[in-house]
Amino acid sequence: MKFSAILLALVSTVVAQSASIAYPQDGASFAAGSEFTLMIIKPNSLTASQEISAAIDIISCNDATLRKTLSSGPLDPQYSTPPGSLPPHQNFTLQIPPNFSAGKAQISVSRSYRIGVSLLLCLPFNT
Ligand SMILES: *[C@@H]1O[C@H](CO)[C@@H](O)[C@H](O)[C@H]1NC(C)=O
Ligand SMILES: *[C@@H]1O[C@H](CO)[C@@H](O)[C@H](O)[C@H]1NC(C)=O
Repeated sequence: MKFSAILLALVSTVVAQSASIAYPQDGASFAAGSEFTLMIIKPNSLTASQEISAAIDIISCNDATLRKTLSSGPLDPQYSTPPGSLPPHQNFTLQIPPNFSAGKAQISVSRSYRIGVSLLLCLPFNT
């Protein structure tokens, strides 16, 4: 399995109280078909906010019409145990579609929440 040069662009909206992607990080590379863990963290916030659900999509950077939903379901970040080591977070185990075209791709996390927040990062991987 060969991996070529990787460029990861983080196109993240930084908004107070917004969630962010803690992993994968810049430079992450995955083979098509492989599983990876996506960790969403939600910083400690001053006001309670209720998470509803999140859709996690992968979108090819070369072909925006190539888009697959990897996960869709409740988003409910939890404190780690013991508390204090991590901010509230949630791990998702996702699989890159086996036939997804090689190259850079974005992972889009869209939350259903009072304020729509979309996080995009370019996640390169190779077949
Ligand atoms: C999420 O993954 C991180 C890193 O592997 C781990 O430290 C943490 O305990 C996990 N959290 C949960 C709730 O499983
Ligand atoms: C991958 O396979 C699925 C299901 O067979 C198909 O719907 C999709 O069009 C394929 N995608 C590509 C990029 O070949």
